Amino acid sequence: MRHIIATIAILGAVAHAQEVGMTDWSNKEDILRGKALFANNCATCHGPEGIGPQSPALKVKRKDGKFQPPALNGTAHTWHHAPDLLRKIIAKGGNSYGKGYEGWMPEFEAALTQKERDAILKYVHSLWPEKVKKIYDERFAIQK
Ligand code: HEC
Repeated sequence: MRHIIATIAILGAVAHAQEVGMTDWSNKEDILRGKALFANNCATCHGPEGIGPQSPALKVKRKDGKFQPPALNGTAHTWHHAPDLLRKIIAKGGNSYGKGYEGWMPEFEAALTQKERDAILKYVHSLWPEKVKKIYDERFAIQK
């Protein structure tokens, strides 16, 4: 009986997740697709597996005063941003943070479909340490 109740509770949670449009972050097919797309579109700036610029010189601001592309692998700030903002940055580029921040990351809205951009975001999420993923997923449960 307890088992049946637990099963019903899980099914209820899944149905609710679909209702609010949650993403299945752990979808393996999407993550693999995202990985390939990341290598082709993002790694030149963000480094392989999103580890960011590696040379110490690259950690210094650029000559034009702009920031270097950040690490996306959970060691920097990325996971403090809600999924919607991350989606916006990938679609519309580095001017999407608001507050007059002028970035230089290019936009990918035309080059990649929404599904492709979502797959890339799932790949980026998959790079984060388990602990970071857990905090993130709880914090942004509604927005996934
Ligand atoms: C030409 C270099 C360049 C390319 C290519 C690039 N980015 Fe970026 N990205 C940046 C820079 C620089 C920033 C920081 C914002 C700014 O100054 O524009 C950034 C910021 C981000 C952020 C926000 C990170 C944070 O911690 O605030 C995400 C997420 C991101 N990029 C994902 C991607 C993805 C996914 C791709 C490929 C589809 C990509 N970027 C391609 C340069 C790039």
